[in-house]
Amino acid sequence: MDELVALCKRRGFIFQSSEIYGGLQGMYDFGPLGVELKNNLKASWWESMIYENDNIEGLDSAILTNPLVLKYSGHEDTFSDPMVDCKSCNLRFRVDQVPDSCKKEDLTEPRQFNLMFKTNVGPLEDGESFAYLRPETAQQIFTNFKNVIDSTSKSLPFGIAQIGKAFRNEITPRNFIFRVREFEQMELEYFVMPGMDDKSHDSWVQKRLDWWVAQGVPMDSIELYDVPKNELAHYSKKTIDIMYKFPHGLEELEGIANRTDFDLGSHSKKQKELNIKSNVAANKDSNSKLAVQDEEGNWVVPFVIEPSAGVERGFLAILNEAYNVENLDDGNSRVVLKLKPHLAPVKVAVIPLKKNNEDIVNLANEVKVKIQKLGLGRIIFENTGNIGKSYRKHDEIGTPMCITVDFESLENKTVTIRDRDSMAQSRIDISDIPSFVESKIKS
Ligand code: GAP
Repeated sequence: MDELVALCKRRGFIFQSSEIYGGLQGMYDFGPLGVELKNNLKASWWESMIYENDNIEGLDSAILTNPLVLKYSGHEDTFSDPMVDCKSCNLRFRVDQVPDSCKKEDLTEPRQFNLMFKTNVGPLEDGESFAYLRPETAQQIFTNFKNVIDSTSKSLPFGIAQIGKAFRNEITPRNFIFRVREFEQMELEYFVMPGMDDKSHDSWVQKRLDWWVAQGVPMDSIELYDVPKNELAHYSKKTIDIMYKFPHGLEELEGIANRTDFDLGSHSKKQKELNIKSNVAANKDSNSKLAVQDEEGNWVVPFVIEPSAGVERGFLAILNEAYNVENLDDGNSRVVLKLKPHLAPVKVAVIPLKKNNEDIVNLANEVKVKIQKLGLGRIIFENTGNIGKSYRKHDEIGTPMCITVDFESLENKTVTIRDRDSMAQSRIDISDIPSFVESKIKS
């Protein structure tokens, strides 16, 4: 973990937030390379959900949330962790995370601590007009259920997917970006007929595993955890957690829950007409019936399967898998990030052999512009004049290919392409670069 944290700071993936003022616990900023990798990861998820499935629609809902949403979702009552204070070190911990250095006799009795952040809305700070910062992106998917159905004419099974920030006032944020107070989630709510839920749940677990493998997180670093009944969230009938071997231990990367008809049932008006199977509180405030009609015209509240992944945890797992230190034949070693090409923050570095040779520099620039126009992501023109140093840097940030423009390029319009993983170099025609690069990045 220390090596990953150092690499992230050194190369501009992740910085501590508000660092120049001493930081803010549980908050991180994503730097120039971090934002690229994060965007690529989110784009890959979005493509696998929305573009590859005609029955899944996207959403981008507000972060500030009407308290009624989180009242009826159950979060006001149940979204809390038990915490204790240590009278010796004056710090507060989650009950299951008290360090060994705190003696049992110094700890207070556990108290429940709600994890939701509140903020004032409007000019008055009277505590009356407040909103919550959403603790999960899921709730506004449920509240928009009718809007999406009405505007897209979807019928079951169908899904609504969303990527966005979520906020939790974690008692003890820790392990770098693993447990933070502000993070992003990639969530799908997949609505199915009651009775079809178990099969759909199994199939989403498999689809999500396949997706993680395609992002470079292999199955031998993953374990599935069938969450026991006494640990299930209040809305869940069954949850399978995808556990990943993080540098600090085996922990949850993504949860895939069968949320039954709890959420739509909880947020719906006219609940008595709907044959809701979950135990939901009476709703006096909703103005929408969150149900569909079956072929006989009966109202049915769909069951929901929810794959919910954290972007930061995915980022950390991917970085951990990609990070390699290799011993070279010449006795030196190199750090290389073997990221999947579609995730790499920089796709290609174009390097002129001589930084002061106008012809070489101009040709290299032309090559850069040509590749950039393919729309594959960031292409860097790297005019340091030091090829060895440029290769080392691009190995360390995971750039799949470096293209060198040299004197021979001026004569016969060819360039050298160096492969990050094998370090093999080959010469190709400049005219072949677009198809070569495209096939490598999209592979
Ligand atoms: N909508 C369901 C839900 O929010 P969750 O298990 O509480 O379920 C889903 O969260 C995912 O969000 C987790 O698997 C994890 O990847 C990520 N996550 C949750 N809390 C987090 C935190 N404090 N810091 C970073 N990621 C977090």
